[in-house]
Amino acid sequence: MKIKFLGHACFYVEEGDFKALIDPFISDNAQCPLKTSDIKDITHIFVTHGHGDHLGDTISIAKNNNATVITNFEISNYLSQHGIAAHPMHIGGRTKFEFGIVKMTPALHGSGIETQSGMLYGGNPCGFLIEVNGKKIYHAGDTGLTMDMKLLENENIDVAMLPIGGNFTMDIEDAVRAVEFLQPKKVIPMHYNTFPVIETDPEIFKKKVSHAEVILLKPNEIYEF
Ligand code: NI
Ligand code: MN
Repeated sequence: MKIKFLGHACFYVEEGDFKALIDPFISDNAQCPLKTSDIKDITHIFVTHGHGDHLGDTISIAKNNNATVITNFEISNYLSQHGIAAHPMHIGGRTKFEFGIVKMTPALHGSGIETQSGMLYGGNPCGFLIEVNGKKIYHAGDTGLTMDMKLLENENIDVAMLPIGGNFTMDIEDAVRAVEFLQPKKVIPMHYNTFPVIETDPEIFKKKVSHAEVILLKPNEIYEF
């Protein structure tokens, strides 16, 4: 599995024919090395919540790539109205797809969809456990530290993507505790240094995490396992 960091909370994930984006914040993301027109052959897009830095370019990329969006019921409904193929899920059990298994996990955050006519209700924010060919990743979405993460310790997560920037999400202190709860093999920090209010030093996170390997990716860098 290839995991390419595209800045902020945006990742490209590839395993065989499965070519997915998580939280495709591309055109307004100063950290993102790509333009939306560079993005090709995406099969699936995962959206953790309705905020602009996560829903991002979902509509244009889904249209141009004929990709299916996997997100909560409310955002799926919003996307369907824009002619996008969306698979609605909610926090609960696992769903089998042709590529693998997805479980939507709780996140403690907001999910409003910002539109020109105001904020639309975007349902519950979430994270995703995504398992493809026996490889399991966890993208926490935007969230504060929750005891619910402790429930995921039996998931045998290979790679966890966790926000560390604070203000809107966990900061480093809480993300270190999240790693203790989750027990993943590897951790990739995200959602930091995009805006002044979430500036932090990921090297400090790396030093403080003791039970997992921290992989610091610069935008456009790939971790493969
Ligand atoms: Ni958010
Ligand atoms: Mn965010």
